[in-house]
Amino acid sequence: MERMVRQLLLRALTGKREITLRRRIPSRSDLHAEFDRIASLGLYLHIPFCEQICSYCPYNKELFRRDLAERYVVAVKKEVDLYADVVRDRPITSFYIGGGTPTTMLAYGLGEIVEHIRSVFRLRCDIHMESHPNHLCEDSLSLIRSIGVEHLSMGVEALQERHLRALGRPYTVASVMDAVGRAMSHGFKCVNVDVMFALPGQTRKEAEETGRALVRMGVDQIAAYPLFRFPYTRLGRNGQPKNHGLSLALKRRTMLRSLEQVFYRAGYERTSVWAFTRRGVPRYCSVTVPLYLGLGASGGSYLRGLFLLNTFGVSEYARALERGRLPIALSVNLTERMQQAGWLYWRIYETSFAKSDYQERFGTDIDDAYGTWLKILELLRLLKDDGSRIALSDSGAFWLHALEDVLSIDYISKLWGTSKREPWPDQIAL
Ligand SMILES: C[S@@+](CC[C@H](N)C(=O)[O-])C[C@H]1O[C@@H](n2cnc3c(N)ncnc32)[C@H](O)[C@@H]1O
Ligand code: SF4
Repeated sequence: MERMVRQLLLRALTGKREITLRRRIPSRSDLHAEFDRIASLGLYLHIPFCEQICSYCPYNKELFRRDLAERYVVAVKKEVDLYADVVRDRPITSFYIGGGTPTTMLAYGLGEIVEHIRSVFRLRCDIHMESHPNHLCEDSLSLIRSIGVEHLSMGVEALQERHLRALGRPYTVASVMDAVGRAMSHGFKCVNVDVMFALPGQTRKEAEETGRALVRMGVDQIAAYPLFRFPYTRLGRNGQPKNHGLSLALKRRTMLRSLEQVFYRAGYERTSVWAFTRRGVPRYCSVTVPLYLGLGASGGSYLRGLFLLNTFGVSEYARALERGRLPIALSVNLTERMQQAGWLYWRIYETSFAKSDYQERFGTDIDDAYGTWLKILELLRLLKDDGSRIALSDSGAFWLHALEDVLSIDYISKLWGTSKREPWPDQIAL
């Protein structure tokens, strides 16, 4: 049943029965041709190290090792150099450093990498970066600011000792609240706090309590994710209930509704499917810009007609660059229809967009391409179309979550799960 829904959706959105990524590195001239069609782009840098491996976490990471981190610095700088003549002086309009835990490298070359990126690419944007609450002492926060990070995020996850313990988070409620407070007093334009809800055994009251405590502190942005179970994580392997069981779906819906109320009453606005931002504050965001270049192990690049994925293996990534080769493991050419569907998905994910942006990107009217779909979704009150802008409703956001369960979580599991097992897979069919 799930497979059928996935196939129908994929077919309707992209015209394809499946999407296959292959082990094929584009030639330099292909890359030049691709970038020639791009006026500006975003940058993503992946830092694949953590001090612990959390049971639920799907991201590409390994335990921090100083020797590997030092090799990584040299490798990332080399990767930047290999893209220098392709990117040239195109403005970089967003820069996001994610992980893993980027702050594991704070004293081990993170600043050196950022400096190198500044010297090679034309950065025309703020830097947004993920961090860990245990890495946010006064000195580290000053160091983070001195690198030029203006928007900071950290994973808090929950504010009840029992849930922190069950998730294996290495701090107490009091110490994590202190870390949030310290981060908020360091002059960042936006401090984002990640929380997860629909945790095993969690009550609606507990989820609300977490949301309320954060808004009472005046945190700039709160990103609230339902706990997803990825089959290749320890949590997924332990046979926890599936993502899309009915009772779990109801629990998520109820908790999300409650959290929305907490945030809206406190003057926060929904700024992406997951995130709620204090009115008037610039939002913290990851890589949802239309086109971006991904650097680092497992960095993905979403270009115009091309999607590239770097190898997930950290040593393999470094070895490829030590040999002067780009560390791309997989690539796929994107048809116009795939590009349109991808663009639309990410713009809706950000909750609203101007129809003229679509016209500008694809040279056609969005109503000609997706008019019937938009009408149906509007009738179902999942979105609003005022003629010039399309905005997602709260129900629409919930159903987009549900769509993520059925579609993206499965694709991510296949793509990331296989890439974690095999650093250079021959192909992966989604
Ligand atoms: C890269 S991690 C956070 C940064 C840092 N490594 C930390 O742990 O504090 C990004 C966020 O993704 C969310 N996340 C991780 N695994 C998840 C899962 N299985 N389901 C839902 N959200 C998840 C968590 O809220 C987490 O804080
Ligand atoms: S949740 Fe954060 S600290 Fe834990 S494994 Fe994932 S990235 Fe690392």
